[in-house]
Amino acid sequence: MCASTPGPVFVAGATGRTGSRIVRLLTDANVPVLAGCRDAKKLTDQNDSPLITHVPYNALNETVPSLDPATVVVSALGSVESIDVRTFARVDGYGTKRLLEAACATDSVKQIMMVSSIGVGSLFKWPASMLNLLGGVLIWKGMRFSR
Ligand SMILES: NC(=O)c1ccc[n+]([C@@H]2O[C@H](COP(=O)([O-])OP(=O)(O)OC[C@H]3O[C@@H](n4cnc5c(N)ncnc54)[C@H](OP(=O)(O)O)[C@@H]3O)[C@@H](O)[C@H]2O)c1
Repeated sequence: MCASTPGPVFVAGATGRTGSRIVRLLTDANVPVLAGCRDAKKLTDQNDSPLITHVPYNALNETVPSLDPATVVVSALGSVESIDVRTFARVDGYGTKRLLEAACATDSVKQIMMVSSIGVGSLFKWPASMLNLLGGVLIWKGMRFSR
C-alpha cells in the first residue's frame, strides 16, 4: 500500500485497539498519519511520533472533517461499550456511511480500507451471529456496503 500510494493516511478510530496498531504500523513505516479521533491526549499517550497529526473527529457529527490531503482512508471505527444500543447505528452505521461518502468526495483519496467484523454478510451463521445481539451491530456494519 505505502509504496504505490504514499500517505498521508487518515485513520478513523486511531485511538482504538485496532486503530492504534494501524497507526503504529504506519509510523514505523515512516508514513504520515492524519489521526481522526476524539481525544488528542489519548492519541499522544499511545504514540508521540511527529508523523502524526491529530484531526478532531467525532463520528456522531453530521460533518466529517476535511480528509484532504489523505491518499488513503482507513476506518477502524467501532462503537465503544455503551448502554445505549442506538450507538451501533450512529457510529458503525451512519458514522461510517458519512466517512465513506466524504472519502469518495475527496480528490486526494485513492484507497479506502475498512475493518469489518466476522459475521457481516452471514448474519445467521453460528457463532458469529451472536455478535448481533449487541444492538444489531452486524446489520449496521453491513449497511456500509449495501448503500
Ligand atoms: N478487536 C478485534 O478483535 C476485532 C475483530 C474484528 C473486527 N473488529 C472491528 O474493528 C473495529 C475496531 O475494533 P476495536 O476492537 O479496535 O475497537 P475499539 O478498541 O473499541 O476502538 C474503537 C475506536 O472507535 C472510536 N470511536 C468510537 N465512537 C466514536 C465516535 N463517536 N467518534 C469518533 N471515534 C469513535 C474509538 O474512539 P475512542 O478511543 O475515543 O473511544 C476508538 O478509537 C470495530 O469495527 C470492530 O467491530 C475488531
